[in-house]
Amino acid sequence: MAFSVAIDGPAGAGKGTIAKYLSERFNLKHLDTGLLYREAARLVIADGGNTLDVVRLEEIAQKVDTHHINEENLRNEETASVASQIAVVPSLRRVLTQKMRDFASSVSSAYQGVVLDGRDVGSVILPQADVKIYVTADEQVRVLRRTKELGSVAMQEILEGIKARDARDGNRQTAPLQIADGAIVLDTTFLDTKEVCEKAAEIVECALSNCEAIDNMSKTSSCLSKK
Ligand code: C5P
Repeated sequence: MAFSVAIDGPAGAGKGTIAKYLSERFNLKHLDTGLLYREAARLVIADGGNTLDVVRLEEIAQKVDTHHINEENLRNEETASVASQIAVVPSLRRVLTQKMRDFASSVSSAYQGVVLDGRDVGSVILPQADVKIYVTADEQVRVLRRTKELGSVAMQEILEGIKARDARDGNRQTAPLQIADGAIVLDTTFLDTKEVCEKAAEIVECALSNCEAIDNMSKTSSCLSKK
């Protein structure tokens, strides 16, 4: 298994930004696992929008093609909301989780490894990941970031969407959002993008050279802690 980095956290915490940065800096193939749930949500909406028919949901999940997802129409609140509703269904999760593991295990040797970001990467998809980072930030900060990102959507709508998704993702029975065993917590509330990316890169750098340094780093840095 190639070198692997697992990044988890709630919506708007900065996972995607960190994962993209690490992917470029360390030549890691990147998979945004939330996109698979969003693509499944798009297919569910096109199929009539029934989020309760678990047999149909599993069939739809099989159709998600990890390597051909058009991100363009998936970055909106409706898709995100349906994604988190269907993400509570164990059989759908099983199908998508397998696709994510296949992605990670089939990475070409042209890459140094993989970086996956999502909600259950360190706990379920890749529990043996070499590096696990749990990214978090205060709710208000996450809402502000999402508002800037989405441009035309009202802040109140985003706040409600994020609250509902956090509750669903954190409380579901199967693979809830949680700090995975061995994950380093990176609180990005008071950090700008550059600082966040540098902190994450330090962690990966340590894992690639000397893992003990990660423990020391987590003790000395105010925004890093190891579970
Ligand atoms: O990360 P993103 O906001 O695109 O994820 C959309 C939804 O997909 C999340 O709110 C969550 O319900 C679901 N998801 C998940 N497990 C993952 C990634 C995403 O349940 N690994």
